[in-house]
Amino acid sequence: MNEEKKAKEKRIGIIGVGNIGMAILRGLLAAEPEVKIFVSDANPEKLRFFDADMESRVAICKSNEETAKKSEVVILAVKPNDVRGVVEEIAPVMNEEKMLISIAAGVPTGAIEEYLGKAGGRKVIRAMPNIGARVRAAVSATCKGEYAEDEDEEIAKGILSAIGEVHSVKESDMDVITGLSGSGIAFFAAVIDAMADGGVYEGLPRDLSLAIACETAMGAAKMIRAGDKPSEIETMTASPGGTTIRGLYVMESRGVKAAMMEAVIEATRRAREISKPRK
Ligand SMILES: NC(=O)c1ccc[n+]([C@@H]2O[C@H](COP(=O)([O-])OP(=O)(O)OC[C@H]3O[C@@H](n4cnc5c(N)ncnc54)[C@H](OP(=O)(O)O)[C@@H]3O)[C@@H](O)[C@H]2O)c1
Repeated sequence: MNEEKKAKEKRIGIIGVGNIGMAILRGLLAAEPEVKIFVSDANPEKLRFFDADMESRVAICKSNEETAKKSEVVILAVKPNDVRGVVEEIAPVMNEEKMLISIAAGVPTGAIEEYLGKAGGRKVIRAMPNIGARVRAAVSATCKGEYAEDEDEEIAKGILSAIGEVHSVKESDMDVITGLSGSGIAFFAAVIDAMADGGVYEGLPRDLSLAIACETAMGAAKMIRAGDKPSEIETMTASPGGTTIRGLYVMESRGVKAAMMEAVIEATRRAREISKPRK
């Protein structure tokens, strides 16, 4: 990455420091020793959590406009319904040099470009991270708007790499990414919780059961990322007449796989609904 790109990464604004905005902020502070972050939020309660270490590197701004003015890259982390108001508020200071990264679910780059207006800069990157950002284990997808260049998307990916893995996708795939990973992390949490309940039902202390369920999930994920196919894990584990095949039979007969597929499909459907043009 060249020096210009690196410099741009060092002045980052975050508008909205709720669940995901705060997780991104903490990830950036941990990953980028030189970063200076400017933040604003409509809710003063959200700005109370800054500890002494953060104070030297995080500047609280009085308005979203001030955040945008002081930053080269602005991360928009407000709820989808608040995007239009915030973008119109910062549009006057968004010059050609600045870039906006929106992580709002279901808000297309075209809508954000329209809210920015024709006068100023309209470099927009849309991204969908997930709440794994809290432990720097997010997976994010990015796509660029009409006025952003490939190198702008690279800068955005560099920033988001502070919270985990990043993939480029087509904008038309953003809704399924929202279902699969933005929402999907909660589906895995529910599955881990249910597995841990099974352990508790059979007599394990809850903490131990939860820890073992988590490590088991991570083991499966790591094996698959290392190249093992999911079906191979089943074959390697399910010996004839053994315990695993009994459990897999229950999962199959209760439609667990279909339910997981439907959860992703339904979440995607909802992401498409909220992506429809808004007034
Ligand atoms: N949470 C996730 O897992 C996740 C994952 C991927 C993407 N996203 C996207 O990230 C965005 C934020 O989600 P979230 O869960 O972090 O929401 P959140 O916890 O509600 O955080 C949003 C923050 O923005 C503040 N805000 C509202 N209007 C504002 C304004 N005009 N100017 C400045 N700040 C304003 C809110 O204040 P109030 O509390 O007063 O409303 C709140 O503190 C959403 O668009 C969502 O689609 C979320």
